Amino acid sequence: MGKVIAITNQKGGVGKTTTAVNLSACLAYIGKRTLLIDCDPQGNSTSGYGFEKDDYELSVYDCLVDPEKLRDAILKTKYDGLYLIPSAAALSAAEIELALEDDRERFLKKAIDKVKDEFDYIIIDAPPALGMITINIMTACDSVLIPIQCEYYALEGLSQLVGTIRKIKKAYNRRIEIEGVLGTMYDGRTNLSIQVLDEVKKYFPDLVYKSIIPRNVRLSEAPSFGEPIIEYDRTSKGADAYMSLAKELVRKNGG
Ligand SMILES: Nc1ncnc2c1ncn2[C@@H]1O[C@H](COP(=O)(O)OP(=O)(O)O)[C@@H](O)[C@H]1O
Ligand SMILES: [Mg+2]
Repeated sequence: MGKVIAITNQKGGVGKTTTAVNLSACLAYIGKRTLLIDCDPQGNSTSGYGFEKDDYELSVYDCLVDPEKLRDAILKTKYDGLYLIPSAAALSAAEIELALEDDRERFLKKAIDKVKDEFDYIIIDAPPALGMITINIMTACDSVLIPIQCEYYALEGLSQLVGTIRKIKKAYNRRIEIEGVLGTMYDGRTNLSIQVLDEVKKYFPDLVYKSIIPRNVRLSEAPSFGEPIIEYDRTSKGADAYMSLAKELVRKNGG
């Protein structure tokens, strides 16, 4: 059975998409069959692999409307063992459409369950909001990986996020747990980054990954080439860091 990991933090710009794209590429690189589901209507994970959102007959939106369609929505990337379900602008309408349905929190879960045993890892890139899509994501996943930007206001909103996870656990998904907390855009030359990471470790004892993602310009350049960092610049610090994260995550999950 594959493990479904959602990359969540309702704050924008903290490195969710960068982590979703590069973690899944590294997982595939180390031999894990991986599916990335782009659940952000902005579709940055989709373009991060060089796909155009809205270019495909089926997107994650269609899978939410009709779970039977999920298998047909899967695109093969040019990397071995790495697959993508693209986003589409239409996904933003799902926020409202889902709210009107019975069983509205389970649509994504129903869809993912159909292919769960065909992958080692299913990674979900989440939108920067705590709406119906995020509730569907949290109901469908086994765990959440929380990226935290090592800068001002990093801890802002975290208690709300943890509160939401707790509520989801009670109401919809008893399995859900925090997979890990990832420091991103870390700059070891500044006291601020060091202090923020210390605060995060106090807030989440034992959950913070040893792997830390540095601020690295190569990571911000790679998406405009439609490539994950291990393809764009394998020798960069960013590539090292995401490879180290993938290995740490796999190790924590028993290999
Ligand atoms: N470690 C990093 N070093 C440098 N730039 C980064 C890093 N992580 C993310 N970025 C850049 O910061 C911006 C926000 O990151 P993104 O992953 O899109 O965040 P989110 O998905 O949480 O909104 C993007 O322009 C991205 O390229
Ligand atoms: Mg994003």
